[in-house]
Amino acid sequence: MSVALIILAAGKGTRMKSDLPKVLHPIAGAPMLHHAMRAGAVLEPERTIVVAGHGADQVEAAALDFDAEAQVVLQVEQLGTGHAAAQAHDALAGFEGLAIVLFGDTPFIRPETLETLVAAQADVTVLGFEAADPGRYGRLIMEGDQLVRIVEFKDATEDERAVTLCNSGVLAAPAPLLLDLLAQVGNDNAQGEYYLTDLPALARAQGRTVGVVACAEAETLGINSRAELAAANAMFQAKARAQLIEDGVAFMAPDTVFLSLDTTIGRDAVIEPNVVFGPGVTVETGATIRAFSHLEGCHVSRDAIVGPYARLRPGAELAEGVRVGNFVEVKNATLDTGAKVNHLSYIGDAFVGAGANVGAGTITCNYDGVMKHRTEIGARAFIGSNTMLVAPVSIGVEAMTGSGSVITSDVEEGALALGRAHQVEKPGMARKLFEMLKAQKAKQSRGS
Ligand code: UD1
Ligand code: MG
Repeated sequence: MSVALIILAAGKGTRMKSDLPKVLHPIAGAPMLHHAMRAGAVLEPERTIVVAGHGADQVEAAALDFDAEAQVVLQVEQLGTGHAAAQAHDALAGFEGLAIVLFGDTPFIRPETLETLVAAQADVTVLGFEAADPGRYGRLIMEGDQLVRIVEFKDATEDERAVTLCNSGVLAAPAPLLLDLLAQVGNDNAQGEYYLTDLPALARAQGRTVGVVACAEAETLGINSRAELAAANAMFQAKARAQLIEDGVAFMAPDTVFLSLDTTIGRDAVIEPNVVFGPGVTVETGATIRAFSHLEGCHVSRDAIVGPYARLRPGAELAEGVRVGNFVEVKNATLDTGAKVNHLSYIGDAFVGAGANVGAGTITCNYDGVMKHRTEIGARAFIGSNTMLVAPVSIGVEAMTGSGSVITSDVEEGALALGRAHQVEKPGMARKLFEMLKAQKAKQSRGS
């Protein structure tokens, strides 16, 4: 069945107490909105419509960042979830398939749950859940297996508030029916808002069937406050770690490792304690990420060893068997097979050839204050400790630089380049200096 997603993301999120629109607050390094879009994406929607309002420009950018084909529609005034869904009207023109409304602040819906929703037989289907503590969720008022209506917490009687079957916010109906029902929603309620939750009762009044698909409460966690956001992050981490362990990744202390939504780690990789995976990281089979390393936007190939205390920034590409050791930062640089940068270095905007060895304290001086420049290091080159490679510069295959060199021009294949002051030696001078200094000190302490 063809599906269109309508993702509501216009709300301010007053309870977040933040200038950032609620749906852009990150969970595991990705905006909440991306989590919702990702869940919906498994249905291979024909159209994805994001309703933006508060911080619409930012929300639009985030939506398009996830899916360049998404249609972003504007809800200028936030008059409620029903009003928000109705803004999808034009974007749904000519679409006869199933429309599914998702909330941008409900990031954990499982793909399988959405598939069950699509398979449901009623005219309108609502995704519900049994809440341990129903709090402020809308309540589902049932008659047998039919949903009679949804009542919002603020509008509910004591008896209705005692109901524990709650509304997740997710709802499915054929697009023409959805639009027809949305057009009938009024705002005569406790909040003076156009409630999406009025749809079941309106559908029943037309003689339609309204069903409920139930899912686990954890999936429908709606994030409205910083506390809920923190809990959501913790929940995501626990789930993602458990999945990687299940997939064959070795963690020494999983609770100390932080993952992003898109972190990919191959089996038999070893992840030591206190590693942070920012967005966009892939670690291949058998690689080791040692303690206290920070990675983002990078690719670590088989059998590479990173850290401890390493930082891989966006564009770091490590080929098989590469070593990046302690206090080394790599940015926008490819390290070819077996290259080693083991201590205290910065490698940025660079290529390091296969088997090259970059000595301790080496810096690629890539930035002249205005522009960035590249450094090329040939295969099997040996860069002496504390070399400053002033880019743009290239070091030939199997070339060498002397320790402490400042290299400002290209070094040809097989050459040794020395760019440092000549050493001067003065025989006996050290002893003379010592005696002079000691005599000075003795004089000072007599005087005091
Ligand atoms: C909503 C449901 C409630 C359900 C709960 C689940 C309604 C009326 N209530 O309440 O039954 O139990 O979610 O989490 O639907 N939004 C807009 N435009 C608006 C208002 C909201 O785009 O004018 C978006 C928000 O950005 C958010 C989503 O809709 O992503 C839900 O809005 P929110 O205000 O959080 O609704 P709840 O009070 O949580
Ligand atoms: Mg909410």
